[in-house]
Amino acid sequence: MVGYETTSTALAWMIHLISKYPRVQQKIKAELIDNNAQKDLSLERLDSLVYLDCVINEVLRFSPPGDGTFRTLTVDDRLPESGAQLLAGDQVLIPFINLSRDTRYWSIDPELFYPERFLGEDKNHHPYASIPFGSGHRQCIGQDLARFELKVITARLMQYVTFGDGGPQVNVGGHIQSMTIMPKHVGVTIEFDQ
Ligand code: HEM
Repeated sequence: MVGYETTSTALAWMIHLISKYPRVQQKIKAELIDNNAQKDLSLERLDSLVYLDCVINEVLRFSPPGDGTFRTLTVDDRLPESGAQLLAGDQVLIPFINLSRDTRYWSIDPELFYPERFLGEDKNHHPYASIPFGSGHRQCIGQDLARFELKVITARLMQYVTFGDGGPQVNVGGHIQSMTIMPKHVGVTIEFDQ
C-alpha cells in the first residue's frame, strides 16, 4: 500500500494542480519540446527536465501525500525555544504540511503554488521545511522510485494531453484523509494535443 497509494495520490494532486495552473503546465510542455523533438524519454532526457523536477518538488511541498510521521524519544529532552519538557517514551508528531507552509522557512509565500521557487529564492530552503518523504534513518525507502514514476508519467502525459480546469463544481480540490491525504474533487478536462 505505501508503494502505490502514496504515489498515485501525488499524481492526483499533480493533475489537479497543473489543471489549475495552466502557466505551469505550458512550461512543462515547453521544456519537453525544447529537450526532445522526438518524444523519446531516455534517462538522459528525463535528467535534463529541471523545471519538471521543480514542479514535482512543489506538488510534494504544497500537498504532501502523508500528513506526517512519528518519532519516539529514547531519552528525556527539552525543546530549545519553548523549553517544553519531553520525556523518554513520548511520541512526537512531525506534521509535514505545517512545515511546508510555515512562512518562517520560505522566502516566497508558501501559500503560493510556485514551482520556480526551487530555482531561485527558495532553492536553499531549510532542509526540514519540506520533507514529504520524512527524514533520517527511517525516511522513505521508495522515494527515488516514487520521484522517477512521477516524472516519467507526468512527462509522458504532457507530451500528449493538456489538462483543463473542469470548473468550480467538480475541481475544487479539498481533501479526504485515508492512508494518504487525497484530493476529494479532481474534475479535469483532457484535451489531446495535435
Ligand atoms: C510520493 C510517494 C511517497 C511518499 C510521499 C512517501 C512517504 C513516506 C513517508 C513520509 C515515510 C515515513 C518516513 C519517516 O518516518 O521519516 C515513508 C516510509 C516508507 N516508504 Fe514511502 N512514500 C512514497 C512512496 C513509496 C514507494 C514507491 C515505496 C516502495 C516502493 C515506499 C516505501 C516505503 C517504506 C518501506 C517505508 C518505511 C521505511 C522505514 O520505516 O524504514 N514509499 N514513506
